[in-house]
Amino acid sequence: MANQTNSKAKALLDWVDERFPLTKMWREHLSEYYAPKNFNFWYYFGSLALLVLVIQIVSGIFLVMNFKPDGNLNQYNLPAAFTAVEYIMRDVSGGWIIRYMHSTGASFFFIVVYLHMFRGLIYGSFKKPRELVWVFGSLIFLALMAEAFMGYLLPWGQMSFWGAQVIINLFSAIPVIGPDLSTWIRGDFTISDATLNRFFALHVIAVPLVLLGLVVAHIVALHEVGSNNPDGVEIKKLKDENGVPLDGIPFHPYYTVKDILGVVVFLIVFCAVMFFAPEGGGYFLESPNFDPADPLKTPAHIAPVWYFTPFYAILRAIPSFAGTQVWGVIGMGAAVVLIGLLPWLDRSPVKSVRYRGPVFKTALVLFIISFIGLGILGAMVATDTRTIVARILSFIYFAFFLGMPFYSKLDKTKPVPERVTMSTGRQKVMFFVYAAITLIGAYLFATNI
Ligand code: HEM
Repeated sequence: MANQTNSKAKALLDWVDERFPLTKMWREHLSEYYAPKNFNFWYYFGSLALLVLVIQIVSGIFLVMNFKPDGNLNQYNLPAAFTAVEYIMRDVSGGWIIRYMHSTGASFFFIVVYLHMFRGLIYGSFKKPRELVWVFGSLIFLALMAEAFMGYLLPWGQMSFWGAQVIINLFSAIPVIGPDLSTWIRGDFTISDATLNRFFALHVIAVPLVLLGLVVAHIVALHEVGSNNPDGVEIKKLKDENGVPLDGIPFHPYYTVKDILGVVVFLIVFCAVMFFAPEGGGYFLESPNFDPADPLKTPAHIAPVWYFTPFYAILRAIPSFAGTQVWGVIGMGAAVVLIGLLPWLDRSPVKSVRYRGPVFKTALVLFIISFIGLGILGAMVATDTRTIVARILSFIYFAFFLGMPFYSKLDKTKPVPERVTMSTGRQKVMFFVYAAITLIGAYLFATNI
């Protein structure tokens, strides 16, 4: 009986394979895709980014089924879009969980992507031959920021309205075309129903399509050249007689299983936030957004959501010059663009931070301090002292990138080993830590929910 089922399944697979390269793709991208055997903690975040992307798309579809992108006042004298969110939260069956999944997912997307980018930075994964992987990644980051910005307008709360007002007004600072450009983006002279409708269309279909296309390009480019690793050793250089890299292991089953562990731990943390702290301490869902948008009442303190605050702090830190504020806007744009240019800024012969010299390590620590510091300052009300600190941190941020062609070349590096190194002792400890977290999480779920 079992043999009969197997041969039927095999016949079906053969039928598909004659028409579509299913087995070929499975082999090339999973069972015969050789990944370095020394992947560590930092290598969880690529697959987790994929997971969050799926969570956002699925929860987004269910939100759209019940949401109305309508900025006009309804019979209760409230904007219809704002009441649509309240309707989802209170009346739609399971609506609250779908909404919290999506709002928590937005913040977790950025947490995961920032950690994923950081991994690339410390292990030099942007360097030859992975420049395109990095460029596609940077475009993903841009698209993600656009997606999050437009999504934030949709609930039509006070922060949605005034946040969009501040950001779109930035474009007015561009000489000559600025004012017309911001009117064109809004589709009106102020943020209005027209703005909400176009942001809805862009958030729901246009940007997600671009994001999906870029993610496919990102992974295709990665699989063309192969993954980097914490040692920055190119495993394709040393192969056995069958052409299999000596330091490689098949992605499936080794890393599919490892990634499932990451998914379980991630989901425990994600669910804990979603169920017990969906507002994320006022950072994931900001309190002014629980009030409907009011064009006549400006909130006391307007700040973007936490994941934009480092860039917002740079914008505020740069003073207006020659009668225009455009420098802040240019600075903020440059802060993002420079990330994408890293492959051409770094001149070090060594990829991984493990074998880099003291200059790069110092620059990296200063960069981390500047990025986190700017993030904290960007969420606060600007004062004279904070503006000075933000200026110093912005200087460090730009110096990290613009000084890189010089200091990365001069830095003393250590010799890189030919083969990857394995820190088995630490990995065993980590295995038990993960296993303990997973078991505790499973126990909490089993007993509480
Ligand atoms: C939706 C967002 C993203 C998704 C779904 C995604 C997905 C992935 C996946 C599945 C991998 C392979 C697994 C791994 O190495 O962790 C990967 C690798 C990589 N990603 Fe992303 N990524 C995203 C955003 C980004 C961004 C914003 C950047 C950088 C600007 C980036 C840079 C890289 C690099 C350099 C690698 C190769 C790392 C290595 O081999 O060491 N990714 N990405």
